[in-house]
Amino acid sequence: MLLSKISIPHVQALATLHMVSFDEPWTEHAFAMLLKLPTTIGWCDEKGFILCSHVLDEMEIITFCVHPSCRRQGYGELLLRTMFDYATNMNVSKIFLDVRIDNIGAIQLYKKMGFVENGIRKGYYKTRQGPKDAVCMVYDILR
Ligand SMILES: CC(C)(COP(=O)(O)OP(=O)(O)OC[C@H]1O[C@@H](n2cnc3c(N)ncnc32)[C@H](O)[C@@H]1OP(=O)(O)O)[C@@H](O)C(=O)NCCC(=O)NCCS
Repeated sequence: MLLSKISIPHVQALATLHMVSFDEPWTEHAFAMLLKLPTTIGWCDEKGFILCSHVLDEMEIITFCVHPSCRRQGYGELLLRTMFDYATNMNVSKIFLDVRIDNIGAIQLYKKMGFVENGIRKGYYKTRQGPKDAVCMVYDILR
């Protein structure tokens, strides 16, 4: 997996990967708007991507996915490690994320990589099956 830093020419690929990974896919326009922000940073290839926000010494994972045909082959871990390398070089102290409470695979991956749970947002996700809670997680780089 040779990762590129995400930029505007990637928006079509991002929207395609997002569509096959989430129930409520984001449009190319939504990705383009995010990429216009100076705080947005991410990495991708044709198998997956991770998109983050970086402000001062904190980062947040905005969205993150691997194509269904490429899962359980370590790409998710590789994307997270790429983010950790960047965060360490940029003296980031904490990385935050929200994940749907029933997304067991992602929660498992985040825990394996050292994230810990630090709260619940009640009804944060509006889904076709009704509202679902978010688990808030944090990775403390200075720990
Ligand atoms: C979550 C996601 C990015 C993981 O990507 P991936 O490339 O499959 O992850 P990896 O292969 O690097 O998995 C590494 C470890 O995470 C854990 N893991 C990953 N997926 C898992 C699953 N479905 N069930 C249980 N554990 C899982 C395992 O510990 C795994 O190690 P192992 O395969 O040696 O057991 C991918 O499943 C995905 O795109 N899901 C849909 C979108 C999504 O939920 N994104 C996260 C939103 S917060």
